[in-house]
Amino acid sequence: MANIGEMLLYGNYKGWWSMKPSNQYYVGQSIILTTLDSSTSYSCRIVSSSEYLIDISVPYLQGKMVIWPVGTKLKASIADHQGELSFQTEILGRNFEGTRSYTIMMPHTISRVNTGNREHSKTRVIAVTSGKGGVGKTTLVINLAIALANLGKRVYILDLDLGTADVDVLLSVKSRYNIVDLFNGEKSLLDIAVAAPGNIFIIPGSSGVQELTHLKDRQFAQVISTFNQLDGVSDIILLDTGAGISTDVSNFLLASDEVIVITTPEPHAMMDAYAILKVMHINGCLAKQMLIVNRAESADDANLVAERLLAVVTHYLKKDVRYLGYVLDDKLVNRSVRDQNPLLLSHPDSKPAENIRRIAACLISKPYQSKAAGVTGFITKLYWSFKENKKRLGL
Ligand SMILES: Nc1ncnc2c1ncn2[C@@H]1O[C@H](COP(=O)(O)OP(=O)(O)OP(=O)(O)O)[C@@H](O)[C@H]1O
Ligand SMILES: [Mg+2]
Repeated sequence: MANIGEMLLYGNYKGWWSMKPSNQYYVGQSIILTTLDSSTSYSCRIVSSSEYLIDISVPYLQGKMVIWPVGTKLKASIADHQGELSFQTEILGRNFEGTRSYTIMMPHTISRVNTGNREHSKTRVIAVTSGKGGVGKTTLVINLAIALANLGKRVYILDLDLGTADVDVLLSVKSRYNIVDLFNGEKSLLDIAVAAPGNIFIIPGSSGVQELTHLKDRQFAQVISTFNQLDGVSDIILLDTGAGISTDVSNFLLASDEVIVITTPEPHAMMDAYAILKVMHINGCLAKQMLIVNRAESADDANLVAERLLAVVTHYLKKDVRYLGYVLDDKLVNRSVRDQNPLLLSHPDSKPAENIRRIAACLISKPYQSKAAGVTGFITKLYWSFKENKKRLGL
């Protein structure tokens, strides 16, 4: 795992520095901030710094503390041994007790994330879900990830099926840690990501993912910053969610940029797929929604299923859901699951493998809209929806 960590930290990074940033900043160093919509400059100082984050003193203007909400975008200017460095950053956390401070990101983190064009380097966060269980989500997520990797994309699977997280089992890889170790502050994202066959990476989930709500703003800022590492070094994150309309699943869907709903031709799988699309609609889900028909008998069978379902969606929900394609029902799929060897690796010439490659090509065929919130946006939205749920339930 150290390899992935080092690759992300230093290898792929074409930023301004190659040495560790902690050498460059010191407590008391001056930093000048301006908001993006005004020319007023605010002067403050570094009160502490870690590998990814800097805590800065809360600035004062005409004797009053300048209060910025978390998420405020700022231009920062800081002097280092090479001269003055200007960078754009964001308030990630606030601490108004004791030493009053804001937490912002280290410039080296931002420069790494910003490698190339920031807009185009944002990771697509795509949730894969279904109304009915057992329709083939996990199998498809794994094989789709491999197909996308073959097309040159850097793909991570985040296993968020809280009931039966089994991506690692199906890929026959061992994971020592999971996402909750990250929330506890014990591990970084790079420690828990596991390289898997097919040139993809797995981030194991855990039923403790709701622990996200227990994090203090400051810890959350750290989680954000570690997730931010993925924006720019990964192209696509596929989320394997559980089936059905539980609060957890709908939170994952609402936080994603895009959602793929999977159905089989069975009427109750179709009805449940419609139900999921309806729940997203009722909750004002802004994610781009897509459909895959799995276990089809033929192309005609799949197209008919998609046509029927999408006609109902257009009529009742007035939604535009994109049909991505189908995968044929084939016993080779089941065999590859039993062998813990993904279809795209074990039977790359089979019909369903060809179907999955076509879906992958379709998924990346259109120029990607950069409105995506990326990984940081995903985890921020998730944090707030879990918090909202807790409030609603009076917890
Ligand atoms: N195209 C296919 N042809 C034949 N069998 C398939 C196909 N797709 C999936 N299956 C089989 O369906 C079963 C369920 O698949 P999978 O575990 O991927 O579903 P799931 O939607 O993730 O289930 P859960 O809701 O329990 O997480 C597996 O045994 C798999 O082999
Ligand atoms: Mg599954």
